[in-house]
Amino acid sequence: MHSHILEMKDITMTFGERTLFKDISFRLHRRETIGISGPSGGGKSTLLRIAVDLQTPTAGEVIFMGKDVREWEPRELRRNMILVPQQASMFPGTVRDNLLWGLKIHRLKIDEEALHQVLKEVNLPIKIIDKVADNLSGGEKQRVAIARALLLKPAALLLDEPTSALDEESTLVVEDTINQVISDREIGVLIVTHNREQAQRFTSRVIEVGNSEVH
Ligand SMILES: Nc1ncnc2c1ncn2[C@@H]1O[C@H](COP(=O)(O)OP(=O)(O)OP(=O)(O)O)[C@@H](O)[C@H]1O
Ligand SMILES: [Mg+2]
Repeated sequence: MHSHILEMKDITMTFGERTLFKDISFRLHRRETIGISGPSGGGKSTLLRIAVDLQTPTAGEVIFMGKDVREWEPRELRRNMILVPQQASMFPGTVRDNLLWGLKIHRLKIDEEALHQVLKEVNLPIKIIDKVADNLSGGEKQRVAIARALLLKPAALLLDEPTSALDEESTLVVEDTINQVISDREIGVLIVTHNREQAQRFTSRVIEVGNSEVH
């Protein structure tokens, strides 16, 4: 009986002469947060893209919910393990339009009350739902992006530097949101962070990338 949802096994990524990382192995469990840390250009975003099979590693395998990611139907995979990119981009229209976007793609229906519920969950006021999403602050956009992902009920969330563009106050709000979500839902989180303090207060362990020697 495996309690982990994601396993990365001996993942190596090489571009030409350059090895970004070598033999990275870890398991992510439900309700666990693992940090990914390393210098700019070290391969943090690449590791997340490998997890959701948007990039293929030079070596190694990625097992999600007991099945190799290459065997998953891509859309199904990326509904169950959602990557929230470094700069959370909003689609045209209101926050409501943004929340409904993923649901439409996956042909899922949801009532207004559930939208209100998820906004509450990410600490946004319900009245924000009619605002033009692109006019929100960076921290609000991050939380809309997380809410949009949560509506699809993923088993894992992969957050690429969710707070790197935010001031300290918004950073703490977004961290709070993530913490709450992790304890309320049975999901696992991989979070890329440049910030060692953030990694320490926030994660059960940290995977370091990008310190491989160039050869
Ligand atoms: N297809 C590719 N071919 C060659 N090099 C690539 C390719 N994809 C990514 N890289 C390189 O891999 C390195 C790692 O990029 P990545 O975006 O994963 O780093 P990062 O740790 O997320 O950096 P940052 O902290 O700036 O976001 C970069 O130097 C990038 O140029
Ligand atoms: Mg990156």
